Amino acid sequence: MGKIYITTAIPYVNGAPHVGHAMDYLLADVSSRYQKMLGNEVRFQAGTDEHGNKIFQKAKELGIPVQEYVDQNAKKFQDFIKKLNVEYTDFVRTTDKEHEKRAGEIWKKLKDHIYLSKYEGWYCSGCERFITKKEYEENHGICPDHQKPYEKLEEENYYLKISDFKADIRDAIESGQMLILPEFREKEILKLLDESPDVSISRPKSQLTWGVPVPDDDTQVMYVWVDALANYITALGYPEKDISDFWPAYAQFVGKDILRFHAIIWPAMLMALGLPLPKTLVSHGMILSNGQKMSKSIGNVIDPLEVLDKHGVEAFRYFFLRHIDTFADSDFTWEKYEDAYNNELANDLGNLVQRLATLCHKNNFKLQSPKIELDPEYQKLMNEFRFKDAFDFVWEKVQNVNKKIDDDKPWSLAKNGEVKKLEEALKNEVESLLFCNQMLKPFLPSTTDKIAKIFVDPITPPESPLFPKTK
Ligand code: MSP
Repeated sequence: MGKIYITTAIPYVNGAPHVGHAMDYLLADVSSRYQKMLGNEVRFQAGTDEHGNKIFQKAKELGIPVQEYVDQNAKKFQDFIKKLNVEYTDFVRTTDKEHEKRAGEIWKKLKDHIYLSKYEGWYCSGCERFITKKEYEENHGICPDHQKPYEKLEEENYYLKISDFKADIRDAIESGQMLILPEFREKEILKLLDESPDVSISRPKSQLTWGVPVPDDDTQVMYVWVDALANYITALGYPEKDISDFWPAYAQFVGKDILRFHAIIWPAMLMALGLPLPKTLVSHGMILSNGQKMSKSIGNVIDPLEVLDKHGVEAFRYFFLRHIDTFADSDFTWEKYEDAYNNELANDLGNLVQRLATLCHKNNFKLQSPKIELDPEYQKLMNEFRFKDAFDFVWEKVQNVNKKIDDDKPWSLAKNGEVKKLEEALKNEVESLLFCNQMLKPFLPSTTDKIAKIFVDPITPPESPLFPKTK
């Protein structure tokens, strides 16, 4: 039995969770449940990123004290994760006093690779980000996401010397010591690495107050990444605790938009701290809404609570783990959601359970507890983090059980009194279903629990369908 650490990106709390935030949690949860199924002990971190001007401004606009505002929103994220039936073990809020103290200690340990310098250039307050000259020119001076002109900025910042680590980061990626998935993103990162400048990791207090103070310089406050990335190890108690039981992480789940920070700044920080790099960075795509990026101004933001209310958490997990690609951008539409629920979850699986349990019950079929193993192909896909493919693989087997029943026609065998053949057919069908059920566990934890309880002696069909059809 091994010890395994799995992490998720910590969302900004300048609003309520949206459907896109579910991806990190769901993918990490599948990974974690699968590892637990294999007998490993898992620590699973989640959290919230609570500092920065955007959050500060939002609270001010609403006339709420900032701490109160972040408390409210952090709670929304915690409730959301629970609703998704995600089994996390640790939750870091970057405003936790423990985290802030540890982030300060980490800063001090990075000191040899930090220098003070003057920044003169462009900035987008909407993105809370410095803009390179190239980006400024490409966008003709206007932020495409916020439709606001970039601001000219001149200020002193501390910088982290990425240049000290570039060669070692490249080696770690190329040698597979730190795997980046999917592979085409690894290539993008390697390209980006060469042109990566040193990164600004602080801002003057006059520009940013809501953040962790920089140790030994009360004019500066930490800016975004050192504070945020540190959460993955402060969650384990670094620096005062020995974290080697769980660190390096087995897998860190992030969206493609923040992969570069995790694949460049984060390894640089870890190398400076003398810590090993995560074994795998898994980057997922974006969820689009009707083919477009979700945005409040377009009015196409999908509220995850509405989706959850519609058909419950298992349908939510089903759709986002099977119809949203693990690695590429994918589209959510209500139509697709309804179709997947009715045609697949209710039809392929719900109906199958109902009719097979009814057949077993009617014919007094006695189940010998079968020995269930995992399919090697499924294990391969799961080990490669190809969760959608693994889910597809099992679903095809679910559909095959349906076909098998259609072919075997147990009702005719019963009618003709072919007892032995009937026994054999039901045994095969139930065993095939339980084989699928075992592999579906990480994806659909409550449904698979229910199915496992139905198919024990005496097999009794559920009183109501597992997934009532809506059309
Ligand atoms: N606070 C930073 C992360 C710091 S991690 C040390 C951040 N927050 S975020 O709220 O913008 O994003 C949090 C996670 O949600 C990221 O992994 C991001 O990719 C993911 N998503 C945000 N919108 C998304 C979609 N529309 N679709 C899929 N994932 C999305 O970045």
